[in-house]
This record gives sequence, structure tokens and C-alpha cells, in this order.
Amino acid sequence: MSGLYSEDILDQVARANDIVEVVSGYFPLKRAGKDYAALCPFHAEKTPSFTVSPSKQIFKCFGCGRGGSVFNFVMAKENVTFPEAVRILADRAGIELKRDPDGEKRAGARKKLRDVLAWATRHFVAGLKHPKAGAHGREYLEGRGITQTAIDRFQIGYAPDGWDNLIKSGGREGIRPEMLETAGLLVRRDGGSGWYDRFRGRVIFPILDPLSRPIGFGGRALGDAEPKYLNSPETPLFHKGQALYGLPQARDAIQADRRVVVVEGYFDVIMPHQMGFGGIVATLGTALTDEHIRALRRYADEVVIVFDNDLAGRAGADRGMELFLAHDVRILMTVVPDGKDPCDFCAEHGAEAFRARINEAQDAFKYKWDLVQADLEAATNPAAQRRALEAMLSSVLSAPSLAQQDLRLQRDLILGHMSRTLGIPEATLRSTFSRLRRSSRRSAAGTEVGSNLPETATRGRRWVKERELLTALVCRPSWLDDARQAVPPDRIEASALRRLYEALLENPSRRDGDIESIVRGFDDTALASLAVDLFETGEAVEACRQEADTGPGPLRLKLEEALGALKEMEYEADLAARSRAARENETDDARALRDFAEARARRQGFLPPSARRRGFTET
Ligand code: GTP
Ligand code: MN
Repeated sequence: MSGLYSEDILDQVARANDIVEVVSGYFPLKRAGKDYAALCPFHAEKTPSFTVSPSKQIFKCFGCGRGGSVFNFVMAKENVTFPEAVRILADRAGIELKRDPDGEKRAGARKKLRDVLAWATRHFVAGLKHPKAGAHGREYLEGRGITQTAIDRFQIGYAPDGWDNLIKSGGREGIRPEMLETAGLLVRRDGGSGWYDRFRGRVIFPILDPLSRPIGFGGRALGDAEPKYLNSPETPLFHKGQALYGLPQARDAIQADRRVVVVEGYFDVIMPHQMGFGGIVATLGTALTDEHIRALRRYADEVVIVFDNDLAGRAGADRGMELFLAHDVRILMTVVPDGKDPCDFCAEHGAEAFRARINEAQDAFKYKWDLVQADLEAATNPAAQRRALEAMLSSVLSAPSLAQQDLRLQRDLILGHMSRTLGIPEATLRSTFSRLRRSSRRSAAGTEVGSNLPETATRGRRWVKERELLTALVCRPSWLDDARQAVPPDRIEASALRRLYEALLENPSRRDGDIESIVRGFDDTALASLAVDLFETGEAVEACRQEADTGPGPLRLKLEEALGALKEMEYEADLAARSRAARENETDDARALRDFAEARARRQGFLPPSARRRGFTET
């Protein structure tokens, strides 16, 4: 991250570049109270929601949510990386940059990792071309109808059977097994001595970053071997929730259409691509994340999510709405007909039929609405309509982004859209929405007690707690050590929050209550925006502290409460897993169930059986 330059230098550059002056160099700012305001340069708007705070040395747009330090501003405005932004601002202030040797070392390690991944890509590509050893791989791809042009374009390779092909070939090049392990290419033997190749007897799909550099691999078994697909593990360069298969190959087509199609599988990218539909990428076995959307947002205004079947579409509908609510991008959804996946569909009907299908994709919103309506089709009386309406509004409410924040803009968009499609006055929708919202708040408060929640609601609560934890930490990084011991970053489920947590831990310049020093080193603008957002929320919470209050402030209480709740949820999840295990495993059934019942009773504060019996006789 910030590693290339020392903290002293960064401090100096930050002090020498007042954010108000720097921003004013790009466009005029108007004084607004203690802050400055302007039309946001990052999204289209008619009234100014872009503000710059001279006291905090940050900017923030209330419209699009962008925010950060002066470095983040230059990064976004000039479309450059953090080190480049530092250079620009140092230049502006006439400061000479000296590099931090530690940072150089870190950057060196990443570079080495990239070199190893590039080497491995070449190794697998050569493996597929090998006259004898590659034959099975070539036959498989041919059988699936993949052309040589596509093989070249996607740098598809092959890892033949065998436990040490890569280790040996790396050894000949002077690449140490430890390095290959870090790159996710080797697995350490159980006993601890030695390694073996992770990918064996698999067709290899290199996963590239937007600059076409390999960051990981997906491997398809040739036959029925399990698992069907094997992906690289998380490494310093490879994060499943961020990576998108086929992005560099798809980018031109995406930009030309300002539209990107997102599918589930590697072949679902390659087949349409070779048939002439290029603007298509795949997630790597995960649902679409906020980070995916932010990455795609740079090239496209529309994201079309394609599901293999109705069931998947139904399951994905709410996620689609969440994404629509959280980002200013149009989200559309469609299902490939006849239970086919995009690969089969394109192979059979061609790219034009596929394009036609994509053109018919529906707004996430409309898609969900149709599902709700279909469910209630039978009765078309006003009561049923009201139920449909409420179901729709409730599902909007259950999106965490709306439940957590007051996203008035998105809410207005939704209500406007619903009003138009339904022909119902907005005012009516608005009051229904408020009523549902009040009752959902009440039932959310009730969740503290009961635990028989549907899964989505539990996930929502977890997200809220994770967000509260990070809010406290962004405001008071000095609590990081306490927090890390209770709930380390790898236990955070929401990937953006997890990355923020890690970034905070990595950032040595962070100071309590000084958001500029906290986001300064973030070379990810989205992460900086998130941090600024949480910081403002946290400061507002802390401002509720009463003059006379001694003891821990509201933020500290939030922190402890969030840590407690997260640990509690892990405990609950553990119990649930045990009860599942009990159901699945007949031999251990009785024992596991008893464990579960006992643990649960303890948790809920029931007295031990003997004491309880006594209790009964006494009353
Ligand atoms: P083919 O059956 O080869 O056409 O692949 P597919 O892409 O149609 O596979 P499928 O629809 O079953 O899965 C879609 C995507 O989910 C894959 O491309 C993988 O990214 C992921 N996936 C599927 N099976 C596995 C698995 O066993 N392990 C892992 N890690 N990922 C999988
Ligand atoms: Mn498939």
C-alpha cells in the first residue's frame, strides 16, 4: 500500500498540500459554513453535494459516496495509483521524494510473486502444447468445442497428472518451493515435510487482473474427478471476491457497450467470446460482490447478471437489488432458457441469440417485482395487491445498505420507479414504506432475543455488527490490538470491511480521530470512501457523549458490544453446525444432539438440570 515512501515523507507531503487548495486547482469551491462545496466531479448532479473539510483535510460527496484524503482525490481525478499521486503532490509542493527501503522490499516481494505467476502461466500453456503430456488436455478442450484462437486469447493451459511437475520445473528455473507455495501453486504435505503440486490432471484457466497480469488459476478436472473446479487459494495477489475471470479480454467490448455481462463459469465466458460476444466476465464461484461492481463500474453503466436457471435467478434477485441500492449502476438480470448455461446456449444458438437474450434482461428491480407478482398472481384483488406491494417494499428494506443508512436518493429512485410501473401515487408508497420501516425496526430490535431468524436476516445483523466494529476502529485505531485479539480480520465476512480492517492494521501513520492520516495510505478509492463514511458515522455517535459522562464513551461501548455480538454469532453458528452434523451423521447423532441441547441451554442461561429440578419443587 503506502509502503514505497516513509511515513515522514507522506506527512510532509500531506501538510504541504492543503486539500482546499489542491481541489480549488481543479475547479472552484464555494464556502459553505465551515466547509467548502461544489458540484461533484465524480458523478453527474445539479445541486452540490461534494464537500471539502479544511479541518479534517478530507473530501466527501454525499451523492455518490466518494471520499478520502487529498491523495485519494488526486488518485480519482487523475486516475493514478497512490505512489503516483504522492509524486504529483510532492512535485506540486517542491518536496524531494526519498524511497522507504522497507517499502521497496515489500514491493519487491509482490513483483517476485507476479513473476512466478507469469512463469507458471507459461509453464501451463507449454504443458497444453506438449505433444505427449498435453494430449489429454487438448482432447478435452476440443471435445468442448473450444477453438485454438480462444485457447491463445485466454492463455488456457494444462497441468498433466503427477505430483511434482511444477516443483521440478520451478527448481530448474531456480524458483523455490516456498515461493510457489505463496503463489498458491503448491500444497504442503500433511507431515510438514515437502510439498506437492496443487493442480494435477487439470485444464488451467489463468485468472488475470485488469492489467492482464496473472493473479491466480482455475483448474477443471478432465473427467468426473472431484472437485470439478479447483481454484487458487487466497494469496497476497488473489482475492476471490474481487477477481473477475476474463476482464482484460472483455474490456474493449465492455467499454464499447458500456455494458458488462456477468456469468458463473469459465466456459460461460470463453464460449460466447469465441462466438463473437465479448463483453462477458465470470465470478469465481462467489456471488457478485460490491468490489466486483466497483471494478466494473469503471467501464460500464449496466451490469447484466445471467443465471443458469430460474432457481438461481430467484435466489439472486435480492442480491441484485442490494447491488442496485448500493451503487449508481444499472443492474439487470436474466435467466438462460431451458436450464442451459450460457456456454451451452451459445454453442447451440450462437452469439446473436445470446445477445437477444441479454437485450431482454430486466432491471433487478423489475425482475424481483415480477417474481413477487407471479407469486401473488392468483388473486388480483386490492388486498393481494397490497400484499405484493408490501412484499416488494420489505425486500427493499431487508437490503443491508438501506436498513443501515438513510439512503434517501436510492429510496426515492425505487419509489419513483414503483410508482411509475404500478401507477400508484408516490405519496401512498412513501407512507407504506415508512410504516414497514418502523415495524421492521421493531422486529430488528427483537432479534437480540430470538435466534430463529431466517438466514438472510442473520447475515444482515452480522453485517451491521461488523460495520459497527469497523466504525469504532476507523475512529480510534488505537483499539485495533484489542479488537484483533477478540475478532481478527479473517473472521469478518463482509469483504470490504475485512479489507478495511487489514488496511488499518497495515497503516502505520494512523492516528485516533484523524481521518486524513488513516485513509492517506489507502490506494483503493472505494476503501477510502468507506473509511470516511464510517468515520463520519462514528464521530456522530461519539458526539452524543454527555458532558458529565465519565467512563467509556459511546464509541467504546459500540466496539465492545459489536465484538461481543460477533463472538456470540460465531458461537451460534458453531452450534448450528453441530446440530447439522448431528443430522447428517447418524452414528454420532445422539451424542451431538445432546451436546447441542446442553450448550444451547447453557447459552440461554437455563440452570443446570439438577438446580432446575430444585427450582420447580420450590415454586
Ligand atoms: P462445466 O461443467 O465444465 O461446463 O463448467 P461450468 O462452468 O458450467 O460449471 P458449473 O456451472 O457447475 O459451475 C460454475 C462455476 O462455479 C465454475 O466455473 C466454478 O467457478 C465454480 N465451481 C463449480 N464447481 C466447483 C467446484 O467443485 N469447486 C469450486 N471451487 N468451484 C466450482
Ligand atoms: Mn455451468
